[in-house]
Amino acid sequence: MSAPVLEAEDLGVRLYPSAGAVHAVNGVSWSLRPGRTLAIVGESGSGKTVMSLAPLGLLPPGVSSDVTGSLKFEGRELVGTPDEERARVRGAGIGFIFQDPLSSFNPMRRVGSQVDEPALIHEGLSRRAARERAVELLSMVGLSDARRRIDMYPHELSGGMRQRAMIAMALAASPKVIIADEPTTALDATVQAQILELLMELRERLGMALLLITHDIGVVAGMADDVAVMYAGRIVEHGPARAVLKHPDHPYTRGLLASVPPPDALPGTRFRGLPGTPPDLMAVTAGCPFRERCAYAIEPCATRRPPLEPVTVSRDQRSACHVHPLVVEHDQPAEVAP
Ligand SMILES: Nc1ncnc2c1ncn2[C@@H]1O[C@H](COP(=O)(O)OP(=O)(O)O)[C@@H](O)[C@H]1O
Ligand SMILES: [Mg+2]
Repeated sequence: MSAPVLEAEDLGVRLYPSAGAVHAVNGVSWSLRPGRTLAIVGESGSGKTVMSLAPLGLLPPGVSSDVTGSLKFEGRELVGTPDEERARVRGAGIGFIFQDPLSSFNPMRRVGSQVDEPALIHEGLSRRAARERAVELLSMVGLSDARRRIDMYPHELSGGMRQRAMIAMALAASPKVIIADEPTTALDATVQAQILELLMELRERLGMALLLITHDIGVVAGMADDVAVMYAGRIVEHGPARAVLKHPDHPYTRGLLASVPPPDALPGTRFRGLPGTPPDLMAVTAGCPFRERCAYAIEPCATRRPPLEPVTVSRDQRSACHVHPLVVEHDQPAEVAP
């Protein structure tokens, strides 16, 4: 098996707003190998964005934070590394795609000059060659009529086109990893499917690894090789996507899956999210962070934090639950015909 291109080990992030500390990310470990997709799934506020930005030095200015543990890109430690060094690693190795393309573009500059900028910087291309490269990149991400659109301003493109242009920008320096943080949340369903399809195709064609961050467990099927489910800044279930989606163990994963409309749902049918709200990340409590919303909770859940441990029926699948509903169900004696 090839070495991971990006690897988190016992990663932790605390944020310090004006008062108190937000325990945004706690003891998170995962690894991403070349050419693979790891999906990070969890409700809004579960720490997905902070986990992916803080160790890379990308939190907004003015947010005071403390990062512990390790995040390595191709074996190089990024936690505690000087900003210039991190910027070099990011520029050459990691591309970013965010939810809102408009905020990633400078509204005053034409799309083409923004897409080719990283190429200019990192590959030492001439202006002309960089422009050709920008046309090539925009065509590669399926922006029709790229030669004309390259001279447009960001607001002149549709949401889907802007997202394609942002993907082109992320690809310009030929990164090894793409971090896509809710890349399709702002788009309508049809465009969303097209953009996800494009990401899959590019990953395949360019052999990149993809860290796909989403609150929508519905997009994980068919996209991800592995999935890590985050709740309150922790990974509560982790494993091959097929296994986790087919037989989830953690009650939180089960709840997320139950709130996804089935493919044959009638249009307009409403599906409720999980009842209740995630815990306050300023208060550190003992026990399982999900217990107050959990239908399976038993007494130890209030006092002991469940470790992330293998679920016996599927060796690579791990879940942080005292009950392990999957194991319980699996161990039920099969019904015997009379
Ligand atoms: N700039 C900030 N200042 C203080 N707290 C923040 C800031 N950004 C995020 N948080 C908190 O950190 C936690 C994780 O947020 P985030 O990583 O954005 O979640 P997600 O991406 O999963 O929606 C949340 O509790 C959020 O309120
Ligand atoms: Mg986020």
